[in-house]
Amino acid sequence: MHAIKCGSPSSNIYSHTNTSRKTIQHTHTHTFSHTVVEIRVERENLKSVSMAETGVFEEIIEGDVFKYYTDGEWKKSTSGKSVAIINPTTRTTQYKVQACTQEEVNKVIESSKIAQRQWAKTPLWKRAELLHKAAAILKEHKAPIAECLVKEIAKPAKDSVTEVVRSGDLISYCAEEGVRILGEGKFLVSDSFPGNERTKYCLTSKIPLGVVLAIPPFNYPVNLAVSKIGPALIAGNSLVLKPPTQGAVACLHMVQCFHLAGFPTGLISCVTGKGSEIGDFLTMHPGVNCISFTGGDTGIAISKKAGMVPLQMELGGKDACIVLEDADLDLVAANIIKGGFSYSGQRCTAVKVVLVMESVADALVEKVNAKVAKLKVGPPEEDCDITPVVSESSANFIEGLAKDAKTKGATFCQEYRREGNLIWPLLLDNVRPDMRIAWEEPFGPIVPVIRINSVEEGIHHCNASNFGLQGCVFTKDINKAILISDAMETGTVQINSAPARGPDHFPFQGLKDSGIGSQGITNSINMMTKIKSTVINLPTPSYTMG
Ligand code: G3H
Repeated sequence: MHAIKCGSPSSNIYSHTNTSRKTIQHTHTHTFSHTVVEIRVERENLKSVSMAETGVFEEIIEGDVFKYYTDGEWKKSTSGKSVAIINPTTRTTQYKVQACTQEEVNKVIESSKIAQRQWAKTPLWKRAELLHKAAAILKEHKAPIAECLVKEIAKPAKDSVTEVVRSGDLISYCAEEGVRILGEGKFLVSDSFPGNERTKYCLTSKIPLGVVLAIPPFNYPVNLAVSKIGPALIAGNSLVLKPPTQGAVACLHMVQCFHLAGFPTGLISCVTGKGSEIGDFLTMHPGVNCISFTGGDTGIAISKKAGMVPLQMELGGKDACIVLEDADLDLVAANIIKGGFSYSGQRCTAVKVVLVMESVADALVEKVNAKVAKLKVGPPEEDCDITPVVSESSANFIEGLAKDAKTKGATFCQEYRREGNLIWPLLLDNVRPDMRIAWEEPFGPIVPVIRINSVEEGIHHCNASNFGLQGCVFTKDINKAILISDAMETGTVQINSAPARGPDHFPFQGLKDSGIGSQGITNSINMMTKIKSTVINLPTPSYTMG
């Protein structure tokens, strides 16, 4: 697969054959829209040793199966089974990880409990020191970890490196923020409440919850893992990580960086396996004291089953981009490209519906189309803008949304094209509320445009969604922007920029089906702690006289 500019009429995606490797070619015929697309997929049967499996990472793999991590050691599951990780680009098995058993999960959680008790007694400065060390080791090994991201989730090469570096910075920030906010408590006196004398002094501090279960999603397996691990550890918790299947190997490498930093035995564990075998078992485990999950609908099911533990959930969005008549259309177009198409739209904060005033819609669509034509489509190794989506089922779902829009009369600004999991970027104009794409989250490179006749219409569409993660508004009138932001039922509204979670210390939260609680470093640290009070009762009232 070679990179192609998506507007190039002579694009030929079918010419590549790699003669240095044994390949079997499968040909599918794919029909949709005006085109008949022949798909040729190369199946690589020879496994090559990559830098991700050598050096300091040698011990995390045996044969061709990566091990899981518990009690400070890399282990093979007694199940003797493994889970295959399919490379979205080649659609062949890239890696294998252990299929852990429920019995192994029990042992992991038991070790976590024991380790946590000791860790809670470890001075804050020492916890911070270890986190800084892990951050440095992670950044030092950004190349092999990024290589895993490229192979497992088809994230463009440069973005993969950025994810690892960003994650190192996030861990360091957790360490710094943690020593500040956990190093302070409150002192309250009783006579501020009616009827009380100053006979009670209340001292509060933040204490850890215990065992935190972290479940990150495939699209940021490293960054959204450390956004849970960093706060959990600095706050004195132990951590059990259940990585997504796709992204698991990058996670295992990241865990090795924590191992190399020298964290106490049992404090961090990473279990891999089938969701059907250990998913519910983990989330309903009585030994788990907190769950931090990022992903899709599964989060709703988890929250119903989890019981009385604090939950932090980030479950996706249908982020609206409201464009007013006075907006800088070049800025809007650039942000629709960045917000809608980066990582092929596989971001919960992607621009997922553009709501543009009819009077400027033609001009905006033209500008966006010109930019879509310049997007590079192809494999992540070549750092293309649009790379294959994570799985065949995801590609099929995205195609279903496109087909539905076609049937119902949306304007296809580009021809619909797909090869395997690779879907060409597509702007759909004249989308109407009866189309699925107006409401559903494609998690792919398709951006719908709905033309509106009033700002109220745009706000109404945004608020009628079940989701409420982020939204954005483009206008030069800051007063209008604030009013619109207040009217939008979303956790965050960006003014004159596309939605985004970062910088990672900003609060990040969704309303409605988009989530529970708030993330961002400070909020996550607070969420992973409880308040403990000690009240000193005096025999007689005592007032500080100065
Ligand atoms: O996919 C969900 C992520 O939280 C989005 O993060 O805005 O940095 O891409 P991002």
